[in-house]
Amino acid sequence: MKNIAYYNGKTSLIEEMTVPMNDRACYFGDGVYDVSYVFNHVPMAIEEHIDRIYRSASLIDIKIPQTKEWFKQMLMGLVNQVEGDSLILYFQVSRGIAPRGHDYSALSGGPSIWAYVKPAQLIDAYQSYRGITLEDKRFFFCHIKTINLLPSVLANHQAHAAGAEEAILHRGDRVTEGSHSNISILKNGVFQTAPLDELILPGITRAHVIRICNRLGIPVKEEPFTLREMMEADEVFFTASGALCCRFDTIDGIPVGGKDMKTFSAIRDAYEAERKKECGLL
Ligand code: PDD
Repeated sequence: MKNIAYYNGKTSLIEEMTVPMNDRACYFGDGVYDVSYVFNHVPMAIEEHIDRIYRSASLIDIKIPQTKEWFKQMLMGLVNQVEGDSLILYFQVSRGIAPRGHDYSALSGGPSIWAYVKPAQLIDAYQSYRGITLEDKRFFFCHIKTINLLPSVLANHQAHAAGAEEAILHRGDRVTEGSHSNISILKNGVFQTAPLDELILPGITRAHVIRICNRLGIPVKEEPFTLREMMEADEVFFTASGALCCRFDTIDGIPVGGKDMKTFSAIRDAYEAERKKECGLL
């Protein structure tokens, strides 16, 4: 098939799938999601993505009745039906179906499970990208991968309207993360990235990059950094499942980074090799 959608046991092409209007995802964004990229029909870090959606769901008081193994088999069943060497696997769990109402205590029936698989390419980690900085206006649920993404959508649109690819969010002086990525810097050979708290998503790519740095002997600092420290860093980059490890060359139109390509390339190339190995491409 060229793509596939899944909703509560039904499957079809994405463009033919319909969902009930009363799914709470539609009114409240009442749900959580996750995304992995698939090469050679192997979804990257699938267990980590499944663990995260169960964790996100539990943080907003949704209990997924199915086991993680069931979830994985269901997703693999979809992945295996779609043609193509490079695919995106999106999955989401919403609180369920009920007439609109803020209170969900009387909700009967379980959560809704959504997923789709379609062709998609990774963002090229061998190019460089432009960022803009924007005040982070999101709520304090950034560690939960909820489908409430309005501030992120608006920020990302603003970046594109300004001729950039990513918006780098900050609260006051402190850089938090990108509109759909984690932001990290290299300074004097040290990899620095924001600590895990309610201000950022615990990115799976970020976790892989930290493990790669540990393996390569690159010191890691999980501490907040300021806008100024970012602008003066040796390299500035964003990481996400769909981008892996990509560097900025300008932020707000000002040239940044380019002072430690050696360390950046070592991390990026190690990740690229890891991806190929995991997906049986080496
Ligand atoms: N977004 N921070 C935010 C706000 C994100 O939306 C994402 C990913 C990340 C990186 O997380 P990971 O490395 O686990 O992909 C960080 C996905 C790709 C999306 O919304 O499509």
